[in-house]
Amino acid sequence: MQDAAQPPRKAPIRVIVVGMGVRSMIYSSVALTNPELLKIVGVVDVDAKRREYARLTFGLEDEQCFETVEDLVAVPKYADAVINGTMDRLHVSTSIPLLRNGYDMLLEKPFAQNEEEADKLLQCARETGRTVMVCHVLRYAPFYQRLKQVMDSGEIGHVINIHMAAQVNYFHESVSFVRGKYASSEICGSGMLLTKCSHDLDLMAWLMGNNHPQRIASVGSMYQFVPEHAPAGAGSHCLLNCPVERDCPYSARRLYIENPQRWADNVWYDSNCAPPETDEQKEQLLSSIDNPYSRCVYRCSTDIVDHQSVLLHYKDGATGTFSMTGGASVSARSVHVIGTRGEIYGTFETGRFTISHIAPGAPNGRVQHMIDVAAEQEGRHHGGGDREVVLDFIAHLRGDPTSPGKTLLEDSVCGHRIVFLAEKSRLSNGAMQEW
Ligand SMILES: NC(=O)c1ccc[n+]([C@@H]2O[C@H](COP(=O)([O-])OP(=O)(O)OC[C@H]3O[C@@H](n4cnc5c(N)ncnc54)[C@H](O)[C@@H]3O)[C@@H](O)[C@H]2O)c1
Repeated sequence: MQDAAQPPRKAPIRVIVVGMGVRSMIYSSVALTNPELLKIVGVVDVDAKRREYARLTFGLEDEQCFETVEDLVAVPKYADAVINGTMDRLHVSTSIPLLRNGYDMLLEKPFAQNEEEADKLLQCARETGRTVMVCHVLRYAPFYQRLKQVMDSGEIGHVINIHMAAQVNYFHESVSFVRGKYASSEICGSGMLLTKCSHDLDLMAWLMGNNHPQRIASVGSMYQFVPEHAPAGAGSHCLLNCPVERDCPYSARRLYIENPQRWADNVWYDSNCAPPETDEQKEQLLSSIDNPYSRCVYRCSTDIVDHQSVLLHYKDGATGTFSMTGGASVSARSVHVIGTRGEIYGTFETGRFTISHIAPGAPNGRVQHMIDVAAEQEGRHHGGGDREVVLDFIAHLRGDPTSPGKTLLEDSVCGHRIVFLAEKSRLSNGAMQEW
């Protein structure tokens, strides 16, 4: 029996998952670890296998499984909220009918593909009064939470320059942005800056607080994964016709079968199957000329960039720079902020950043200390952000205290707008864009 002095226990938030893909599987797993907080009561997915996964995992009835959003909104609203984990190009078109049907929403980033779509979604959220929280999961990672605290405390004075960099390692680059489902704006709906780095530019916008950028410029291109950079004699498909496959760092066999890294499962999920048990089965899948992951990385005709830099000029005169490089040896996100009283430098993956204060008279003229959150982030997806964003969404809906990093739709606008303007600039040869 509940203690009379305690407030009444709140019921779990009842959620329908729309797009039961890789991301939604992670978010919805909170219902398995914390059934007192979250209950999955429905699924919408055009793919029967994904619906079946949800039906078995969450014990759904047949009438709780829908093929399309139209099918779901045709029945009276029966849950508190939805998790929308569809691909980028479907975010706005699937969200609008759901908001109009009264559902609050946890929506994957990017929340829109362009300015026009963003306005449409914002207007719909305002009109319906529904909550939309965007999955900017990195805001919840202890590294960025502590960084934000330090910057807001004024410890390094006023920011003169903020530089952030995201490098995507060669394995991830090949799986996702050259051969895979993010490799073309037609399939994915977004370019690389939006789909990969809307996180980074959202973080920059968040860290800079009310100091909005006034002018933005950007350049970038597809540099490496073009036919001219293919090894001499390379074929069109690694396992079918490539005499130099054994020497190529991007060989599909070397990457996805012999030396799989954490993104390897995407190859099999996107080939529409569970990870095969044997190497022979994997070879067979990658030997199909129709499998996009078997293609030579240099001949994929990818229409997105593999490196891009963005330059920002803020309203108080500060500057910001961001660079993204795909095909690096390691994945890393770094940040370097120089203020009028000191500076901060660190990398997310190490979970550590150093703060240096201007200190005339101290050894080397500065005083340094380190913030170390490595242990808090260790082994957790996005430093724990994937789980924390779901918990924060639940807290928001239940009226409980929420995180200072909470990204409601309005909070995400600045970071997305930076990307839209940067893309406009890149496509106009780096021309400066006004905010
Ligand atoms: N927040 C992050 O850190 C992060 C990381 C990776 C990806 N993402 C984003 O998450 C989103 C999903 O990525 P994913 O890897 O899970 O993709 P996925 O392809 O695994 O999942 C998408 C799901 O949507 C389903 N679907 C397709 N059309 C549909 C429709 N009309 N209605 C309902 N369902 C439909 C697909 O069958 C699939 O199950 C993307 O927008 C991606 O950019 C975010």
